[in-house]
Amino acid sequence: MVEVRPLAPAEFERLCADMPLRARTQHWANLNRQQSGELLYLIAWEGERAVGHVLLFWRPAHDPVATLADCPWVIDLLVHPEWRSRGVGSALLRACEEAALARDQTRIGLGVAVGNVRAHALYERLGYRHTGLADQRMTGVWEDASGTTHIWEDTVTYLIKSLAPTT
Ligand SMILES: CC(C)(COP(=O)(O)OP(=O)(O)OC[C@H]1O[C@@H](n2cnc3c(N)ncnc32)[C@H](O)[C@@H]1OP(=O)(O)O)[C@@H](O)C(=O)NCCC(=O)NCCS
Repeated sequence: MVEVRPLAPAEFERLCADMPLRARTQHWANLNRQQSGELLYLIAWEGERAVGHVLLFWRPAHDPVATLADCPWVIDLLVHPEWRSRGVGSALLRACEEAALARDQTRIGLGVAVGNVRAHALYERLGYRHTGLADQRMTGVWEDASGTTHIWEDTVTYLIKSLAPTT
């Protein structure tokens, strides 16, 4: 059973070792953005091993289309390949939703590449629905732990979920 919690500074080295699909500089930037209050950097732990992560931005200010949906925004959901199909992605998304609810937010949103069938199915299963926003062609850059830069270009569709308090 995974435990999901915001990254603590003392856990940084462990995260870098376990999740090399993102560069150390990227993990570090995310930790700093969490400490500034811009986002939560939620990590899934299986015992002492980090097996997945997700960013929950409190406002989607870095994405011009997403700003139309004024709600917390899920970015870069990633589960280590060896740990997929075991509920880790679902646990990370549920942790995002609980954190948003704890801040009295009533909706949560995300963008997903239209060709990412598996992620799309996961979001649908958990109740994420189309926003009505137009799909957008987007490009970006990410760096892995070996320092290799990856350029991506994709059509992204926007999904949103209404959060009902569980009382
Ligand atoms: C998309 C992603 C985050 C999903 O993570 P995950 O941990 O595999 O997700 P879950 O296990 O919660 O759910 C996915 C599947 O596992 C199944 N599952 C969930 N819990 C399970 C369990 N305890 N035992 C077996 N299967 C389970 C689900 O039914 C679902 O079925 P599927 O295999 O047909 O898709 C992961 O595949 C990933 O990191 N992909 C690359 C990055 C990416 O695309 N991120 C999304 C960007 S928008």
